[in-house]
Amino acid sequence: MTQNNHQPKIKDQPLNANRHTRPQTAPSAIVDFISHSVTQTRRCGSQLAQHLTPGTIILLEGDLGAGKTTFTKGVAQGLGVEGYVNSPTFTLVNEYEGRLPVYHLDCYRLENGQEALDFGIEEYLYGDGITIIEWPERIREIWPESYIRVRLSYLTETKRSLRLEPVGPAYVGLLQEFKKSAFGSFQ
Ligand SMILES: Nc1ncnc2c1ncn2[C@@H]1O[C@H](COP(=O)(O)OP(=O)(O)O)[C@@H](O)[C@H]1O
Ligand SMILES: [Mg+2]
Repeated sequence: MTQNNHQPKIKDQPLNANRHTRPQTAPSAIVDFISHSVTQTRRCGSQLAQHLTPGTIILLEGDLGAGKTTFTKGVAQGLGVEGYVNSPTFTLVNEYEGRLPVYHLDCYRLENGQEALDFGIEEYLYGDGITIIEWPERIREIWPESYIRVRLSYLTETKRSLRLEPVGPAYVGLLQEFKKSAFGSFQ
């Protein structure tokens, strides 16, 4: 797999869950909205997919049933992946071919970042595909320097809140463009 240069290598950094200082994020790059249906959550993912570039990492936070896999299905669909996308809870990663390769990881069963490194997660973090990670909370010590953070929360049986924000400068412009095309505004 070819390597992108977006991220410093984890193995060159101390494993420390507190190494991230929270940068100021431009409000124009933050997307906050309420999804009223599975379709809307999927559509959000598929519209985001139109703006994704090789090497993009998306961390999906949220409880069981919040909609992480639903959102991922939308991203995969938007990237032209054909076939069924489901959570790789037991296999840790599923790979799909679309406009770009899609690596869908689920860290639910991992205890910590070291286990993910032992599995070989760096291959996915530094590849040229789109890497989408469910349950990134499990591997917080090895979060990359920059990523798109998506937080989903259960509101009612059919409603979910979604918040997308860039962490690190790499994805500010991407999310601004997504916000403009999906919601018609920069603010
Ligand atoms: N607005 C919504 N967005 C996403 N999922 C929803 C929504 N409303 C209801 N759901 C239901 O919530 C569940 C979400 O499941 P899933 O996407 O697998 O969550 P997770 O991967 O976070 O555990 C599905 O059963 C889906 O039908
Ligand atoms: Mg899931």
